[in-house]
Amino acid sequence: MSQKQQITDVLMVGATGTIGQLAVRAAERHGLRPRALVRDTERAARQLPGIELVQGDLEDAASLRHAVAGADAVVLTHGSGGDPRPDAREHIDYGGVRNILTALDGARPRVALMTSIYATREDVPGANPWKRRSERLLRASGLSYTIVRPGWFDHAGPTQRRLVLEQGGTADGGIAGDQIAETLVRSLLTDTALGKTFELIAAEGEEPSDQADWAGLFGALEGDGPRSTDGALDPAGLPVEAEPRRIRADLDAILALGRTGGR
Ligand SMILES: NC(=O)c1ccc[n+]([C@@H]2O[C@H](COP(=O)([O-])OP(=O)(O)OC[C@H]3O[C@@H](n4cnc5c(N)ncnc54)[C@H](OP(=O)(O)O)[C@@H]3O)[C@@H](O)[C@H]2O)c1
Repeated sequence: MSQKQQITDVLMVGATGTIGQLAVRAAERHGLRPRALVRDTERAARQLPGIELVQGDLEDAASLRHAVAGADAVVLTHGSGGDPRPDAREHIDYGGVRNILTALDGARPRVALMTSIYATREDVPGANPWKRRSERLLRASGLSYTIVRPGWFDHAGPTQRRLVLEQGGTADGGIAGDQIAETLVRSLLTDTALGKTFELIAAEGEEPSDQADWAGLFGALEGDGPRSTDGALDPAGLPVEAEPRRIRADLDAILALGRTGGR
């Protein structure tokens, strides 16, 4: 999980979303070549002028094979917000990660996954166990990853630019969208971010100014256990053994993919 990977082509999942659009621009700023996975190419062409688009739907696993082909890295910022179906979180937040990992078919891109500051919380309104389940799939995949759990989007004042990376699932607070995007892209480019899961909020102060600052921020975190499907310091909860059969089957399937196929 720690070998150096040269990253150029980056598949952006959720690229037309609030954070996704910012992540696409952050990738460009860092000299990467972002490719946006989109459902509606006409609308996306207006939202992301000049960006390469690839058509696909996270709920249609077969449509993702072409999208993931050749990607050195994948940034996932998709979400089910606005989808009225009662099971949208399962199908999009969780199923999207499962389908992307499955579509990789032996390829080993680096992955940055955005979930939520409440990923491990069961005691707050809006708690979403599907985010935690999606994280577990990524850890089980054996890929090189970073999982970013941002706080409330844009609930941070203009002078709150100092990034606070926490573990343990108790953090709360806001963070600017551009800082989430920058953190996701920096995580792809910084080896001390490998195998790390953290909550991300902003506090009064200055933002990181150079790569050494970023290496230090990520480097201060505890790495996720190599065989653990939970993040380092995550609270107990949502025990895998008590999960519905289909969830355990997905986890087993991704674990098996991680052990075979040259991964
Ligand atoms: N709001 C907060 O304060 C906050 C804090 C922490 C975490 N979060 C989490 O952040 C996530 C994303 O937030 P956001 O506001 O950036 O999202 P958003 O603006 O709602 O965008 C969602 C993205 O996901 C894409 N998507 C949805 N279903 C898809 C499918 N079947 N196939 C392909 N793409 C699909 C959308 O594509 P289309 O353009 O085609 O719809 C869009 O690009 C949410 O899940 C939320 O839980 C939010």
